[in-house]
Amino acid sequence: TVLYGVIGDPIRHSKSPVMMNEAFRHMGINAAYGAFHVTREQLGDAIAGMCAMGFRGLNVTIPHKVDVMAYLDEIHAGAQAAGAVNTIVNEDGRLIGYNTDGIGYVRSLKEEVELDLTGKTVVILGAGGAARGILWALAREKPSAILLANRTADKAERLAAAFSAECSVSVVNRDELQEACSDADIVINTTSVGMSPNLDAVPLDAAWLKQEAVASDLVYNPRETAFLRQAKQRGCRIHGGVGMFIYQGVYAFEYWTGQPAPIDVMRQAVVASF
Ligand code: ATR
Repeated sequence: TVLYGVIGDPIRHSKSPVMMNEAFRHMGINAAYGAFHVTREQLGDAIAGMCAMGFRGLNVTIPHKVDVMAYLDEIHAGAQAAGAVNTIVNEDGRLIGYNTDGIGYVRSLKEEVELDLTGKTVVILGAGGAARGILWALAREKPSAILLANRTADKAERLAAAFSAECSVSVVNRDELQEACSDADIVINTTSVGMSPNLDAVPLDAAWLKQEAVASDLVYNPRETAFLRQAKQRGCRIHGGVGMFIYQGVYAFEYWTGQPAPIDVMRQAVVASF
């Protein structure tokens, strides 16, 4: 049996085991995937233990995505750019760190709502870890412009500066946001605004969006946020946060096994567990 798992704190509510075990079962792969509660103090021991026990791979979640990098032998360029690792591959004792969150998000966006991102104008709300990973992956798709808006403006400035060589990325302030949204093809909320229990909170007024635009929200609890609900009423196409979770797992599965992941099976397992 090949061993896998996810480490985090808290970890009880993780849907990764149900998604991954179903994927392995469906593919006829003899593997087991567990969820492990690991505190910050235990992180180094947990990684050493994973190696000692011959785990093939780990997913890493909050709060370890940055700290875990110190324990790895190699960091993939995408994870380097995102500044975080969420997937570890154990190649015969050599630990390689990847970040599948940003590329998982973009693959979900493309497969679920907007096949071609080339030439599109994108507004990203938020400038935290999630925004950074998404920005790196989006830049690869050659959008015409990415506009960043954040409550704390200098965080957005720093993020934009870090990616200015990769694509056209600029910062919009609060007063400019409405106009930016009215021109955007895709508006992405990466902030926690709208997350349960604040079900009525919206990161911006969905009436600012073009009717044919895509409204995308990383929040997946609730599955349809107030922002997405309002955008749908306006006639926008909507994209929720569950897809990002599924596709980050799809990439992890593919890195570990070298086989195409059974995406529909994984999606069904996740959706059934809500
Ligand atoms: P994540 O890894 O999910 O991106 P993070 O790095 O803590 O988490 O980033 C959270 C983002 O959500 C930030 O952009 C934060 O804005 P600030 O940089 O101003 O803190 C944003 N955010 C969180 N709560 C918010 C709120 N109530 N209103 C507006 N933005 C909020």
